[in-house]
Amino acid sequence: MSQRKLFVTTALPYANGHFHIGHIMEYIQADTWVRAQRMQGNQVNFVGADDAHGAPIMIAAEKAGKTPQQFVADIASGRKQYLDGFHIAFDNWSNTDSPENHELSRQIYLDLKKAGFIETRTIEQFFDPEKNMFLPDRFIKGECPRCHAKDQYGDNCEVCSSVYAPTDLVNPYSALSGAKPVLKTSEHFFFKLSDPRAVEFLTEWTQNGQHVQPEVAAKIKEWFGTRTNPDGSTSEGLDDWDISRDAPYFGIEIPDAPGKYFYVWLDAPVGYLASLKNLLNRRGENYDAYMADPLLEQYHFIGKDIITFHTLFWPAMLHFSGRKTPTKICVHGFMTVNNGEKMSKSRGTGLDPLKYLALNMNPEWLRYYLGAKLNGKNEDIDFNAEDFMLRVNADLIGKYVNIASRAAGFIAKRFQGQLGSIGADSQALLDALQAPQAAIVQSYEARDTARAARDIMLLCDKVNSYVDANKPWELAKQDGQDARLHDVCTTCIQAFRLLTIYLKPMLPAVAAQVEGFLAIAPLQFADAQTLLPAGHVIGQYQHLMQRVAMEQLEALFEPPAAPVVEAPQPGGENNQAPTLGAVASSLPPEGAGSTLGRPGGAAIAPTITIDDFAKVDLRIAKIVDCQAVAGSTKLLQLTLDAGEGKTRNVFSGIASMYQPEQLVGKLTVLVANLAPRKMKFGISEGMVLAASHADEKAQPGIYVLEPFPGAQPGMRIH
Ligand code: MSP
Ligand code: ZN
Repeated sequence: MSQRKLFVTTALPYANGHFHIGHIMEYIQADTWVRAQRMQGNQVNFVGADDAHGAPIMIAAEKAGKTPQQFVADIASGRKQYLDGFHIAFDNWSNTDSPENHELSRQIYLDLKKAGFIETRTIEQFFDPEKNMFLPDRFIKGECPRCHAKDQYGDNCEVCSSVYAPTDLVNPYSALSGAKPVLKTSEHFFFKLSDPRAVEFLTEWTQNGQHVQPEVAAKIKEWFGTRTNPDGSTSEGLDDWDISRDAPYFGIEIPDAPGKYFYVWLDAPVGYLASLKNLLNRRGENYDAYMADPLLEQYHFIGKDIITFHTLFWPAMLHFSGRKTPTKICVHGFMTVNNGEKMSKSRGTGLDPLKYLALNMNPEWLRYYLGAKLNGKNEDIDFNAEDFMLRVNADLIGKYVNIASRAAGFIAKRFQGQLGSIGADSQALLDALQAPQAAIVQSYEARDTARAARDIMLLCDKVNSYVDANKPWELAKQDGQDARLHDVCTTCIQAFRLLTIYLKPMLPAVAAQVEGFLAIAPLQFADAQTLLPAGHVIGQYQHLMQRVAMEQLEALFEPPAAPVVEAPQPGGENNQAPTLGAVASSLPPEGAGSTLGRPGGAAIAPTITIDDFAKVDLRIAKIVDCQAVAGSTKLLQLTLDAGEGKTRNVFSGIASMYQPEQLVGKLTVLVANLAPRKMKFGISEGMVLAASHADEKAQPGIYVLEPFPGAQPGMRIH
């Protein structure tokens, strides 16, 4: 089959918060799909971006005392650690305030206008006379007109669930200023989705079985029929879509309409194209030529809450502006954590992705677990801690990793790392492993990774039965069984390679490690039709994956605990935790005055080798708590997370420089293999790095080290 050309995106997250586990789930699903495509030799551009515009971000930035641009940039700078941490490999990450997006959004709008799809209309809206701005529905509150619950939002009541217009609220007030809003008229721009051409196009596009899942198509169909409006009246077909907002607004100005901006949902999906264009420009490729290729396929991965925007507004915008429409909108359900505890869309709860990484939990556990649950349908899935542990330990460790660990040792010790030839029964096993390749690839294509995982685990079971039937550990003890032992262990390695091919989209880092261990080029799906030749020399097996430990899950879901401050104990007053700074300053100052006044004081210490340095295990540690020490003016008591699944207690002589609350949440560097030391106030389990002047008396001050952004607790410093 010839190479497919794919353009793939995930929904663009609002740039007013960090990623939560729902975002990560979406990215893992898409990333797995993209990797499976690449393993078939298909060419993919996989892009994301921050959704920068809109009133909520503008207001959040104002509260934070930043410009919206700075606010968005600050959020963006935190994205990488999540993406890298979970092996999510976007080719580009841009934002919707980019020049490309400004230009493309205006062009699309102008093309829609030319085609007769834009109309202006005067509407009446609530206006905050103190803030001098029109209020979005979410920023108007008041009493529910039905059940009279107080402090309800402008669009629906959280108590009785009724839906209404902001103007229906009793005693409305502005959530921004508290002022009573006034009704004011304003001219708005509308995208005429009520136009019969739009209804006709969208009915066909959503119902022809090609672009959305059947369960999604059924849902959309309801929106086309006769609907009952909140006020009891009925409407046919689709309503026109209000695409403009009045200044002040953080967004893109509408051409020839000063003070009018595109509503954020107009330019947000255009951000997909803008991020692609930004990527292609940087690579020196031509965006227009790329998009003009009729064979180009366009896939959007999104959650169920934003179906309307992606299956009605977005295809209509593209189609009626004379552009290519998406090939597929891939809708996933919502993720809940520990039995349905609902996650807030904006905050997320329960499972903090960064905490997961900080606890040294393997990102591929999560990739596999989610993969094993996602079936390509618009269904919610639950992350359940116990289920997660059982699933990962039973499948990945018990069934998959064990195959390699059982065979590799014999190949290394008994056969100089060389693979041998295999017998007929072994060949039959490998045939059975090669046969389902196309079916597994098809499951990935359909995003039915649950099915792929199931099928692969059945293959693992076959291999494990073969191992149990042949018992290599017994063959190894018997005389004259060398050839059979070689055959059986070679078969295990061959099987392990095939299973690794199938799992690679879900487990990219493990697969890379296996490629290293087997001394082979990056695996593609087509490689499943071949075996490694007899005589091929494999490398040293290194343990591929740890089991999930219950303590890690307990720590993951535990709210940060306050450390126990130990009661002062009798002991030497000078028993103070040293810092490297303190150690350096205790070196004898070197000779004459030439070095005096220099911060380092002494000359550089004698040369050491890299091996000497490697003896010091320096780790990134997060200061999860910090307390003053009763009875000491010098010490602070730090609770550090160095990614070990438990915390450490460290005393540090830095109280003169820092208030405890300044340090909480910061990262620093820990000497992790320093012998624990009993001090007056308790045991210090390591030392944090800090700098100080050689002449501490004349130049007091001690400065704790902090890594650049991106470092994570537990990382080693080399
Ligand atoms: N900014 C819009 C999307 C614009 S696309 C042109 C938005 N942002 S969001 O940050 O709220 O959501 C981003 C994606 O995360 C959406 O696809 C949304 O469905 C998904 N999820 C948000 N919470 C989720 C879960 N709890 N579970 C799974 N996905 C969830 O909407
Ligand atoms: Zn109500």
